[in-house]
Amino acid sequence: MAELIEDSPDEVMCSCSGTTRGLIEMLVKQGKDLDAISRYSGALTGCGGCEWDIGELVKELERKELEIKAAAADSPPISDQANPDQISPNQVSPDQADPD
Ligand code: FES
Repeated sequence: MAELIEDSPDEVMCSCSGTTRGLIEMLVKQGKDLDAISRYSGALTGCGGCEWDIGELVKELERKELEIKAAAADSPPISDQANPDQISPNQVSPDQADPD
């Protein structure tokens, strides 16, 4: 049997509900808080043994999401960035130009 890699999306974070790390990551990306994650997945509704681990994971993921949003806010809009696939008419060489 394959050993489960730590931080794998398949890692079960709540054994009572079977909630995986991947599900929690997806829900945090959707903007769900800890209560919403619990309601959606059933995590934290059994023995409570996962409370600390899931709480810390959600905090870490929320912090990463904020960093991603802050970095996106600091970068120029995509329309202002150079697009290597976009060639202006002045960049076409004479042999590529339409003969008509
Ligand atoms: S392990 Fe999550 S509620 Fe029991």
